[in-house]
Amino acid sequence: MHSTAPGVLVIGSSGQLGLELLQRLRQIHGSTRVVASDIKKAPDFEGPFELLDVLNKEALFALVRKYEVGEIYLLAALLSAVGEENPLKAWELNVNGLLNVLELARETGIRVYWPSSIAVFGSNTPKENTPQHTIMEPSTVYGFSKLAGERWCEYYHKRYGVDVRSLRYPGLIGWKTPPGGGTTDYAVHIFHEAIEKGRYASFLSANTRLPMMYMPDAIEATIRLMQAPSENIRIRSSYNLAGFSFTPEELGDAIREQMPHFELSYDIQPLRQSIADSWPASIDDSAARHDWNWKPEFSLHDMTRDMLHNLGKLKSQSV
Ligand code: SER
Repeated sequence: MHSTAPGVLVIGSSGQLGLELLQRLRQIHGSTRVVASDIKKAPDFEGPFELLDVLNKEALFALVRKYEVGEIYLLAALLSAVGEENPLKAWELNVNGLLNVLELARETGIRVYWPSSIAVFGSNTPKENTPQHTIMEPSTVYGFSKLAGERWCEYYHKRYGVDVRSLRYPGLIGWKTPPGGGTTDYAVHIFHEAIEKGRYASFLSANTRLPMMYMPDAIEATIRLMQAPSENIRIRSSYNLAGFSFTPEELGDAIREQMPHFELSYDIQPLRQSIADSWPASIDDSAARHDWNWKPEFSLHDMTRDMLHNLGKLKSQSV
């Protein structure tokens, strides 16, 4: 028995989700107990940081021993659009990285959080109110690596009793990190350009409706899922999770309510458009609501106001 509570390891702590989850976990557990790790050096913040490539199993195991880790958040992944540029690398990182962590969990009993995505669905999936259990024929490497990962998670839980939990995030919108390599990232980029230039050219068409979520809700959902009693977690592949859905045009209108002169135009990128066209427009997350009391707080309008306010403040401080 350790005299102190076990440590928490965040893998991919410099990414969009990792950075914000790290901050929240450090509020909950204290800075010193939550170890940040990524393949590149992190910006300065308090608390331990280690360079780590999750594909390096020995280094991963050594880190877990060093900090007496009892819980891992595995957030390192290649997202949908970037994954299409390097399919084999996306598969390698997204699947083998997870397998390394699941093997570790099998041997040591640590708990695991691992995110899945709406990208696990495909063009044969019902688009509206997409059910938890449905046809899943994803067309991107990102999507089918996440689907394979979901199967592995359920397998390790059923076969070895690993306490692994997962959410299928919709597109995530936050102001603390720049837009990344996802298909939904237009909804982050648009805020940067709105504040800097007053206009934006969307790479998705005006009426492309996608499920989205504001980052504080995504963080809250993750924490709530991980704090729920194990017997409540009936789904060990990954839970559907919904915030709100909108199109680029509707997001443009919401921004214009705050910035009347904002101009939105379209410069469609065929790859990202075809990915978006294969994804759901809205998600049924009733299993999450039922099993661990999930309920989002932010609407499109709350999110838009908050994004413009916080990102505006951040940008005015950095000039
Ligand atoms: N936001 C992700 C992407 O667009 C979906 O999980 O790739």
